[in-house]
Amino acid sequence: MREFDEQSITQAVTATLAECDDPRFTRIMTSLVSHLHDFVREVRLTESEWFTAIQFLTDVGRTCTDRRQEFILLSDTLGVSILVITLNHPAQDGSAESTVQGPFYWEGAPELPRGSNLAEGVKGEPAFYSGRVLGTDGTPLAGALLDIWSGDGEGNYDMQIPGEARMKARGRIRTDEGGRYWFRSIRPTFYPVPTDGPVGRMLRKMGRHPYRPGHIHMIVSAPGHLPVTTHLFVAGSKYLDSDAVFGMKESLVAQFERHPPGTGPDGARLETPFYTVSYDFRLKPAAAS
Ligand code: BEZ
Ligand code: FE
Repeated sequence: MREFDEQSITQAVTATLAECDDPRFTRIMTSLVSHLHDFVREVRLTESEWFTAIQFLTDVGRTCTDRRQEFILLSDTLGVSILVITLNHPAQDGSAESTVQGPFYWEGAPELPRGSNLAEGVKGEPAFYSGRVLGTDGTPLAGALLDIWSGDGEGNYDMQIPGEARMKARGRIRTDEGGRYWFRSIRPTFYPVPTDGPVGRMLRKMGRHPYRPGHIHMIVSAPGHLPVTTHLFVAGSKYLDSDAVFGMKESLVAQFERHPPGTGPDGARLETPFYTVSYDFRLKPAAAS
């Protein structure tokens, strides 16, 4: 039996992958073990710190439910999610940039007619969204799908509201023959990522605030094109410069133009001020990936 010291242990572990028949897995595990061991050596990790880390990861796992994904939140707040996205979706040819999906996507939002109000009965200032979905060559994409979700005007997603079993401020809208889309929702506001779990404790310990700037989420897809998971950020929103999950991209910041009470773009009378925002999404052809 061979004994290992604080250096030779790394090679001993990575050598156990010699029989692995998956080269990509071998590469990932070799690098992971090497970096993990380097980290432990570099900070001279104590046993009590190691146990605290294990307890933390255990809490992260225990906090996950079918409605809450604390591991995604951990990845987001440590900048890993946006790093993976940035590596895999380089901004190219003016195509819409990707950003974090976050933990509040809910598959199966209803497909609604263009012009629908996605935020019927949801608190918040009315906002009318419109624009086009185009190829990177400028061709309008008919039948493209926008799968849209946002929090309410106070920053709460339906999934976070106790006792709320129904979808709110969500919907799927398809473009017309000219690649155009339009719908009504609310102007999103900045809000904190969930802080009542282990990731919240981590942020407090790090001396960080938990806020994301105001944004609305969408996954935009079209046949023959690469889908993009993205946001529109509200220009001028607080925390644009310090997004807690590092997801802000300048190209996704949109101007929300304020209008006094009156007739909205859908012809209906609004008793409160409302906003209009326009944004075109460009999708890369699938073959160009
Ligand atoms: C969100 O934008 O919904 C979100 C993203 C990352 C972490 C928490 C929330
Ligand atoms: Fe969000």
